[in-house]
Amino acid sequence: MARKKIIAGNWKMNMTPSQAVELINTLKPLVVNDDVDVLFCVPAIDIIPAMEAAKGTNINIGAENMYFEDKGAYTGEISAEMLVDAGVKYVIIGHSERREYFAETDETVNKKVLKALENGITPIICCGETLTQREQGVTIDFIRQQIKIAYLNVTAEAAATTVIAYEPIWAIGTGKVATTEQAQEVCKAIRDCIAEIYDDATAAAIRIQYGGSVSASSAPELFAQPDIDGGLVGGASLKVDFGKIVCYNK
Ligand code: PGA
Repeated sequence: MARKKIIAGNWKMNMTPSQAVELINTLKPLVVNDDVDVLFCVPAIDIIPAMEAAKGTNINIGAENMYFEDKGAYTGEISAEMLVDAGVKYVIIGHSERREYFAETDETVNKKVLKALENGITPIICCGETLTQREQGVTIDFIRQQIKIAYLNVTAEAAATTVIAYEPIWAIGTGKVATTEQAQEVCKAIRDCIAEIYDDATAAAIRIQYGGSVSASSAPELFAQPDIDGGLVGGASLKVDFGKIVCYNK
């Protein structure tokens, strides 16, 4: 069965609740594409107003992060149960900015992935190498390690429902998009790694996004690659350009 593309915006720390509603109202007529699952991952405080604004549209609202404990004395954190109660079905886990600025590790990523799955939320698991790692020729080794740890104790059945976002760190917010060949090569290596951990059917089911300076002009070629099933889009998801990215095949 062909994998349905999934194109997600990652708003990062942008948009107040009222700006979020305004942006969704602007974008909703522009992001209609039956071939694509459309997702806006928004700051936690925007989730409820964004859900309301997206009601009756094809836009899904996701979170940018969550904690791996169920509840308790973790000031400032948000639980999976809170996301579920708000209607959230997707959460970004282990974005490179979380790893760099908030000390997330492959181990915390794994705990969050397990907790999201336990609660019926689809994790979008981020991986990606630094420029130094790419130059040292260790990109694939590094990403295989990130993937193997992220999926520890995840069953094949659950793994098949997850989404992976390959985001080379040097391409995030820099305007430097990976070449189509670089992006396809790593996304294929990720799929091969999933086949090794699980089996071919799981590898064939899992959706793998590319992220890092995706734009309306780079999207069509990237998303036409056999192992690239959509994108995780930062900067361009806050603009009307996101409509062009979602409608990349129209
Ligand atoms: P960018 O961000 O599209 O602005 O490079 C992508 C991301 O960090 O998810």
